[in-house]
Amino acid sequence: MLLSVQDLAIDLKRGTELHRLVSNASWELEAGETLAIVGESGSGKSLTALAVMGLLADELFPAAGRVLFADQDLLKVTDETMRSIRGAEIAMVFQEPMTSLNPVKTIGFQLCEGMLVHLKLSRSQAMARALELLEKVGISDAQTRLKQYPHQLSGGMRQRIVIAIALACKPKLILADEPTTALDVTIQAQILTLLSRLCSEEGVGLVLITHNLGIVARHAQRVVVMYGGRIVEQADTRELYRMPRHPYTQGLMRSVPRIDSDRHSQLQPISGAPPDPFDVIHGCRFNPRCQHTTGQCMTDMPLLNSTDEHSVACWNWQRLA
Ligand SMILES: Nc1ncnc2c1ncn2[C@@H]1O[C@H](COP(=O)(O)OP(=O)(O)OP(=O)(O)O)[C@@H](O)[C@H]1O
Ligand SMILES: [Mg+2]
Repeated sequence: MLLSVQDLAIDLKRGTELHRLVSNASWELEAGETLAIVGESGSGKSLTALAVMGLLADELFPAAGRVLFADQDLLKVTDETMRSIRGAEIAMVFQEPMTSLNPVKTIGFQLCEGMLVHLKLSRSQAMARALELLEKVGISDAQTRLKQYPHQLSGGMRQRIVIAIALACKPKLILADEPTTALDVTIQAQILTLLSRLCSEEGVGLVLITHNLGIVARHAQRVVVMYGGRIVEQADTRELYRMPRHPYTQGLMRSVPRIDSDRHSQLQPISGAPPDPFDVIHGCRFNPRCQHTTGQCMTDMPLLNSTDEHSVACWNWQRLA
């Protein structure tokens, strides 16, 4: 197992009060495998990734659980160890490439920086690998690009550079948080295909965070669906698409275009809004938006049995299947 997240909880400290933003998150990832975390805005996807990277903001902290990576619990290692793991063994690809690229440094400098520090390569070795990486991510005229600055490249090219930088130090794991939302749809699909192909070729585990079940379908082996800070369903991608069990997942599926569906069929957004973490909701957190609510849903929180191959946190899924 490359990464095992076990019962992770993340709390927010406000004055003397604690608010739980993520509860009981458990999932696993093998080397070379892609796992997608999907869910609407505010469901806790980014917080989960940030906790794995040890990058939670000061007011947030992992309140329970373990994040096992190469026999270490990343929630327990020192800041210094975490810094050496980040960038070398675990890399992150963020949504907006301009925020992760330095506008005043050349592409070549930014590609080589990590390799000099973490891989201890000489300058010429690093440059040679930088050229190789640019070619791998599909950037032509790589020699010229190395001398250019981020603003001289298109958005799609910048995202390719960010992927090259993530791969530069031969990480074991890449966390990609909405890596393509700033790009148009065709380029998005190209970038995701590239990222997941490179990761599987190089045996890198990939966690792909996205709103979009449509694009995820093609690239992940497993999908984790989050709602209101909890995992509500988890399954192999094919199985999840064949038979989504949670009413929320079913709603997400109806709200994305499908290649195989009738062109005239309507997309149906899920009515209502995702819960605010400070709202008090008794029972299932999805109940205010669910069309299949029963008495139990209003009083008891359904829990996920994460050891099942296809697990779901819903009292009524069998009735709905
Ligand atoms: N520093 C913070 N202080 C207070 N609340 C926070 C903080 N960071 C995140 N939250 C809250 O925690 C919840 C989960 O946030 P998170 O960023 O993980 O959502 P997300 O699933 O990544 O959403 P999006 O799709 O919009 O990126 C949200 O309701 C958010 O408002
Ligand atoms: Mg996010």
